[in-house]
Amino acid sequence: MHRASALAICALTAASFAQSSAPESMSMLTASRVQSPGWWPTKGDAARGSYVGTAACAKCHASKVASQQKHAMARAAVPAADAEILRQHDHLSFRIGSYREEIVTKAAKSVLTVTAGGNAAPLSTELQWAFGVGHLGQTYVYEKNGSYYESHLTFFSSSQDLNITPGQSPGMPRNLEEAAGRRMPPAETRACFACHTTASVTNNQLDAKDAVPGVTCEACHGPGSSHVAAMNLGQHEEGAQLIMNPSRLNPVDSVDFCGACHRTWEDVVTNIGLSSLNLRFAPYRLENSKCWSSKPDARLTCIACHDPHQPLEHDAAAYDSRCLQCHITQASAKATADHRDSDHPNSDHPGAACPVSTKNCTTCHMPKVESSIQHSTFTDHWISKPMK
Ligand code: HEC
Ligand code: HEC
Ligand code: HEC
Ligand code: HEC
Ligand code: HEC
Ligand code: HEC
Ligand code: HEC
Repeated sequence: MHRASALAICALTAASFAQSSAPESMSMLTASRVQSPGWWPTKGDAARGSYVGTAACAKCHASKVASQQKHAMARAAVPAADAEILRQHDHLSFRIGSYREEIVTKAAKSVLTVTAGGNAAPLSTELQWAFGVGHLGQTYVYEKNGSYYESHLTFFSSSQDLNITPGQSPGMPRNLEEAAGRRMPPAETRACFACHTTASVTNNQLDAKDAVPGVTCEACHGPGSSHVAAMNLGQHEEGAQLIMNPSRLNPVDSVDFCGACHRTWEDVVTNIGLSSLNLRFAPYRLENSKCWSSKPDARLTCIACHDPHQPLEHDAAAYDSRCLQCHITQASAKATADHRDSDHPNSDHPGAACPVSTKNCTTCHMPKVESSIQHSTFTDHWISKPMK
């Protein structure tokens, strides 16, 4: 197996070896989506000037902007100077063998310093970006001699401390450079920024200086200047055509849309492989469940359960109505027991009733499962009968 199967905390990668049967209607590789005409998230061919920024959207969509800013996606990457975690932990340190690594934050500046035993001069570098709001953790990115580096250490929320970045070698670094971080090839750097920020890759080139931190309006809807110009002129019909509205996508395309960053079913099968790490790739897990694979259905796309403009809902009961759009309940099965067909799943409600419970469905059927990465948990989107 290639070493890359767990590169970075979010496992982007290389090896292609997995086989499995495709869902009924075909998920596609994101690499093919972004080659096709029209907008798709992570596509980087637009000009920088065609992006207008969230403040411009706020003039007409104020409530969406206000609520989206509270979503973790809006803070998926921020300049290190704005990273709450670094401010709260202004002196972090970690030791590997004779190397000592420190991240010290003072006056909105975070500096990574690595020292080795003996009298070698220490290596110091200012961190530029903090990737990840910190559900699992936060990884740092810095630039040196024209290349971008991923920090060797990540801040993990479970331990509230530094540890080795997933995907990087847990072994002894060979020198100070290696103890500080991993140089990322340009294509990987572009991908990192394309998934975690907005308008950073334009004209197919990374321009991190002009990146809008986090996944904001135009990361999903595409550059907005022509939409805004038309709306300012009161050309509503034309204006609506000039921005992508993902609600018009069919169910498979809709899941692939979120999968541009969360990885599509096909991305996982082709590029990542089917190790246990695929737990975090919701599109792959969801599309494997019986609920989906019997027939792709708009009632079970990502946006059926998640409003991308609102922070993630943590109350399990809030998801019940989604399940019950398709599953009959014990109560309705009993009430109609003398009618011949309606106690069975039907065309409106193709799903059977649960013999165990009538509420909090996700707690048993979409449990939070501990991943191999530092005691973090992910919600298993492969809806299934609980294991006994
Ligand atoms: C000058 C006002 C104005 C600005 C600025 C503006 N919009 Fe709109 N937008 C509208 C109006 C009006 C509609 C149509 C009515 C509606 O859906 O609210 C619309 C509709 C939309 C739609 C749905 C299109 C459809 O197919 O129905 C999306 C998506 C959208 N806007 C996104 C954005 C984004 C992203 C930005 C910032 C880049 C933005 N808008 C900036 C006025 C504006
Ligand atoms: C441009 C890339 C991108 C696209 C497109 C995208 N996401 Fe995300 N999403 C992210 C990143 C990056 C994170 C991780 C944020 C973090 O924790 O730092 C994330 C996190 C999330 C979370 C977890 C929020 C939390 O509080 O932990 C949900 C839910 C989510 N996305 C849903 C969606 C849905 C639904 C769609 C499709 C409508 C979508 N995403 C499309 C990049 C994207
Ligand atoms: C293909 C899109 C994509 C690429 C490329 C990507 N990420 Fe992510 N990343 C995500 C999504 C989506 C999530 C949230 C879901 C998850 O945790 O798997 C995430 C989660 C994370 C998290 C955890 C966030 C948290 O709140 O705990 C970190 C840290 C992170 N990414 C760092 C990076 C770094 C550093 C790179 C580049 C080396 C990178 N990512 C490349 C999409 C991407
Ligand atoms: C993670 C991807 C994502 C981000 C970020 C995002 N949207 Fe959306 N947006 C969607 C999807 C998917 C839909 C269609 C489903 C829906 O209506 O929620 C949509 C629908 C819309 C619509 C039309 C539907 C309606 O309710 O009128 C507007 C307007 C809109 N978004 C504006 C915005 C603005 C403004 C922002 C930035 C604050 C934004 N979106 C950020 C994915 C996103
Ligand atoms: C789009 C419709 C739809 C939605 C939404 C849906 N399901 Fe299903 N589900 C089905 C169908 C169809 C089946 C296969 C027939 C059956 O077993 O009832 C199924 C099967 C199941 C199974 C049996 C799985 C197995 O492997 O044997 C469970 C458990 C289940 N669903 C729970 C849920 C829960 C919990 C939710 C909400 C989180 C949900 N479903 C949402 C349609 C749906
Ligand atoms: C049937 C409802 C349902 C659907 C459909 C669904 N999710 Fe979720 N998702 C949940 C629930 C429930 C949680 C856990 C919320 C909590 O308690 O924090 C969750 C959590 C998440 C998280 C946060 C990290 C984690 O693993 O807990 C991400 C990211 C996410 N979903 C992405 C997606 C994406 C992308 C899709 C589309 C492939 C999707 N979800 C479809 C119900 C759903
Ligand atoms: C306390 C845990 C729990 C909760 C909450 C729960 N279930 Fe179940 N469910 C189970 C177990 C356990 C089984 C397997 C029973 C068996 O195999 O005999 C099951 C089975 C099912 C099945 C398969 C039925 C069949 O005939 O194959 C479906 C569908 C289902 N549940 C849907 C739901 C829905 C929808 C909800 C919310 C309204 C829900 N469940 C809430 C534990 C739960």
